[in-house]
Amino acid sequence: MPGETITLQVGQCGNQVALQYWNQLAAEHGIQADGLPLAYPDDPSSRFQSGNTDHVASQGQSREDRPELFFTLSDSNKYTPKAVLVDLEPSVIHKATNALPMFNPRNVHLSEHGSGAANNWQQGYSYGLQYQEELLNLIDREVDKCENVSNFQLFHSVAGGTGAGVGSLLLELLSDRFGSKKLINTFLIFPSNEKTSDVVVQPYNTVLTLKRLIDYADSTFVFHNDALNSIENLLFNTGGSRNSIDGQAAFEGANKIIAYVAATISNPLRFPNYMHTSHESIYSTLVPTPDLKFLTTSVAPFTSQVSRQSYTNEYEIILELLNDRYKLNRVTEPIKYISVLNYLIGNNLNQEEIRKGTTKVQQRLNFVPWTPSSVQCVNGRKSLFGNNSATKGLTGIQISNNTSIVGVFTKILKQYDLLAKREAYINSYTESNDAQERARVMGLFNECRESVALVVEEYKACQSVNYLEDDILDEDEVM
Ligand code: GTP
Repeated sequence: MPGETITLQVGQCGNQVALQYWNQLAAEHGIQADGLPLAYPDDPSSRFQSGNTDHVASQGQSREDRPELFFTLSDSNKYTPKAVLVDLEPSVIHKATNALPMFNPRNVHLSEHGSGAANNWQQGYSYGLQYQEELLNLIDREVDKCENVSNFQLFHSVAGGTGAGVGSLLLELLSDRFGSKKLINTFLIFPSNEKTSDVVVQPYNTVLTLKRLIDYADSTFVFHNDALNSIENLLFNTGGSRNSIDGQAAFEGANKIIAYVAATISNPLRFPNYMHTSHESIYSTLVPTPDLKFLTTSVAPFTSQVSRQSYTNEYEIILELLNDRYKLNRVTEPIKYISVLNYLIGNNLNQEEIRKGTTKVQQRLNFVPWTPSSVQCVNGRKSLFGNNSATKGLTGIQISNNTSIVGVFTKILKQYDLLAKREAYINSYTESNDAQERARVMGLFNECRESVALVVEEYKACQSVNYLEDDILDEDEVM
């Protein structure tokens, strides 16, 4: 049986995205907002397919899905997300716990001063350092409720103060405490470049956060608000609320897409499958070396119209997932693929259409020369709670490791260099204004910048036919 996942959701963006994530998981497992389960539907077809009558789902008895990998079931028969919620200002978490009272109020950490981290990574990081014991206690308590945690996942923005700064500190703490024994995966949201940002120091925050991801995360799913904004037809109908001036509503459509993708990644674990039955097997398919671990996703179909769904089949979805326009990361130039994993989620999936689609994809994609150029497809199972908008219809996601990261990180480095050249706004990251302190902080910042630049170089180098041989040569030279 796969191990459990503990979710850390940090800052405004992290908590808003994670709220949609828990809505999605709850809908798929028939869990109501207060944590009480709906009656589990009997499913004669799955009884026939699995041939395993021990697992037959009937009310009050065993179920075929595994909500317990993400939720804790209490003695009073209520499900609670295995989640720790952190923010330095209270409004977003209050909204989340009001919307979903299933959250354990004891797993919430709010700052006493309640005014956020002022979009400053350093403020968030220092706060995290000061409260690290409390934060670790919350995590340990969740770990103790699990039989065998295999995975930590972090939802956060790369650019603000809390998600970026406290998030970075949490990555250090997790790595220090659990080392290589547990996976650490992150869902990272980049801000829009196109909309003028009122936060001029975002490139500093981003580079400082990326350094921690490079050092401590096993994989990172990159989402870009520009990519999400430019997708014309959203998969979920948000009633036009994206234009609302309220922060939460403005991002609602984008957050639902991120949440859908994040939830679908664990579909084969939560709805037991014959392939990819552990986090380890999913990530080992996607991440060939620790230097190449920034992942891109896409989702299809991008529509909420039922009529469109009625003529979408497995083949069409697989081809739609190829389209760079539907990638949730910013893709600005032709890319090369290192690995690709498709998921199709539906009932009675047509294997011939999947085979046709997969063959076509393999022919069309431009792979780096040293990978097998094969595309795997997970046949995901649909929730039996199939009559709500979060669970109906045939859908697919694609996870890929590709070179679009070069464009995203290069843009950040350019923005960073513009600030760093003049040491602009560096005072908000230093302890004093004397030249020595400024030089110390700039030195630390530039180390982080170099780590990000090395990732860019690695993604460029991996396009060479000799990439793996170069690595072997490097190792020989060291010996
Ligand atoms: P402080 O506000 O400094 O305490 O940090 P924070 O981590 O709470 O900041 P926030 O999460 O607001 O991160 C900053 C960036 O994240 C913003 O510039 C937005 O681009 C983006 N962002 C904020 N909320 C959301 C959200 O709900 N969804 C998405 N997709 N992006 C968001």
